[in-house]
Amino acid sequence: MLESPLIFESWNSRKGKSMELGSVSRRRFLETASLFGLSSLSAGSSAYQLIASEEIEVTHHTVRLKNLPQPFDGLKLVHLTDIHHSKFVSFNDVFRMVGLSNQQDPDLVLLTGDYITWSKKFIGPVAEALRSLKSRLGVYAVLGNHDIRVSADQVTQALKKVQIEVLRNASARIDLGGDSLWIGGVDEYIYGQSDIPEATKDVPRSQPKILLAHNPEIMDEAAGHQVDFVLAGHTHGGQIKIPYMRSLNVVTQPGRKILEGFVRRGKTQMYISRGLGKVVVPVRIFCPPEIPVFYLRA
Ligand SMILES: [Fe+2]
Repeated sequence: MLESPLIFESWNSRKGKSMELGSVSRRRFLETASLFGLSSLSAGSSAYQLIASEEIEVTHHTVRLKNLPQPFDGLKLVHLTDIHHSKFVSFNDVFRMVGLSNQQDPDLVLLTGDYITWSKKFIGPVAEALRSLKSRLGVYAVLGNHDIRVSADQVTQALKKVQIEVLRNASARIDLGGDSLWIGGVDEYIYGQSDIPEATKDVPRSQPKILLAHNPEIMDEAAGHQVDFVLAGHTHGGQIKIPYMRSLNVVTQPGRKILEGFVRRGKTQMYISRGLGKVVVPVRIFCPPEIPVFYLRA
């Protein structure tokens, strides 16, 4: 029996705008398929269209939070993570992600890291694309492992420059209708120095604790600190999920069992998004990119 005050319902809809399967992606897929020894797949581009996941899936979830202040009942959050602007994810790709986020008409946009992969040269452009995000109550972000390994300071500064508040073990107070809601954010669990008590120290005891965290490994710690709802990414949902083979992310991060969706520990609820970008190989297979939309309910 679950004892959490959080109750969730989820429903998926493929409302995501169809994204064109560009010839570059197709070529990269065919090269990758042959790397994986899938020579029969690389024989025809129809196989590519069948299994490659290029279309962004917008998923919708209701999250019930005990003690949610009344003005925030029905608040719509859009969650973007693991954009990975790089040679695998073009500026136009990022701009389409931003457009799809804007189409959701969000109250809040929350970003959970990995804006780039390995190169500093993509920091400025990805921030420029994110400048166009629309959100009634602001855009808040944390850093991912790639951001920290490339340059935490440069990514933070670039995001700040486009009015995105970066929460590095800090929280932001959102005011609405005479009441307030706090959004906390921690540095990345492995490469940063995540500090949940510091990130949530300003949240009044009577308020729900909402936390942005790149790496879902923080789940046990979040549960220990009575966090109500954690938004996370990092896994890419596995990125490549070829039937009867282990997913790319399971291979690169042995021991990780849960790669996407809701996870619950005590009163703590976490959502792990499949994210938007690609790393290691320039394709996603049977693992569509995702933009989750959350509706907070009291
Ligand atoms: Fe990532």
